[in-house]
Formats: sequence, structure tokens, C-alpha cells
Amino acid sequence: MAQLPISYSASITLNVNGTDHQIEVDHRWTLLRVLRDVLGLTGAKRGCDRGECGACTVLVDGDPVCSCSMLALQVGGRQVRTVEGLGDANSLNVLQEAFLAEDGGQCGFCTPGFIMSATALLESNTDPTEDEIKAALVGNICRCNAYGRIIESVKAAAKSEAS
Ligand code: FES
Ligand code: FES
Repeated sequence: MAQLPISYSASITLNVNGTDHQIEVDHRWTLLRVLRDVLGLTGAKRGCDRGECGACTVLVDGDPVCSCSMLALQVGGRQVRTVEGLGDANSLNVLQEAFLAEDGGQCGFCTPGFIMSATALLESNTDPTEDEIKAALVGNICRCNAYGRIIESVKAAAKSEAS
């Protein structure tokens, strides 16, 4: 019987936050692994590593995805956005500002994932109802149970963008 190769690799172009990266990836590597361990973008967190907690949420072509459950190979040639692409410590974007002002995080582990899901929401709906906010964040889990303040943060960001 023919022996299977131990690993395969391929070269892909990964566009992350507007910058192209030419990367050699093992076929089995997830997008989360490449973001964190190859590109050093540690905003997306590894929580459950099985598509259940949303801590690893990033946007691919504008849609929130669990980067732990998507192979890097699937993302070649597509647009990836991570929390690092929204703003930085010196220049927070409106959602980051709102989470800070409304105390929308406790330990903060889930926060990047919530912010990326909320980013996708506010880019498609600038004036969401509370039910729409809850529906948009349904794939994100907060172990600190800060849900009330997280929802208030998204409301505040929408209000701030409208003014
Ligand atoms: S780490 Fe990806 S969903 Fe939990
Ligand atoms: S703030 Fe700790 S998990 Fe959400």
C-alpha cells in the first residue's frame, strides 16, 4: 500500500487588514493558527478551538467567521479583518471606544471576538435594535457574563456613529 505523505504545504496570499502576506501553509493549519502563530496577530483568541465560543472571530470578506474552524487554505485571495485592523491603543475605533467607555469587558478574553461580530453588524445595520444586536452576537460566549454591558457597548457605538 502507498504511504501517505506526513504533511502537505502550499503557498497562499493572505490579505489581512489590507496587507498581502505570501505564506507557506500546511494544509491542516487553521486561519487562527496562521494569524496568531505565523503573523503574530494575537487579537483573535483560541478558546474552545472547535467553533463554539466565538473568541477567534474575524471577518472574511465582511462576514464573521470562527477562524479556528476555517483552514488557512480556504482564505487565500480573500479579505481578512482582525481586531488589530480596527484601531490601536492610540487610535481606538468607535466600537473599541464604546467597549472601553461602557465597561464592555471584564477579563477581556472574549472582547475581540465580540467586537468583530459587532463590526459586521454595524456595517450592515447602522441602527440595530437590541434583538438584532443579540442575534448578531449569538455565536460569541462571555465566560465573565458581561452580556448586559456588551450589548450596551454596541448600542453606544451605533449611537455614536449616528451622531
Ligand atoms: S476558539 Fe474558535 S470558536 Fe472558540
Ligand atoms: S469579559 Fe471575560 S470572557 Fe468575556
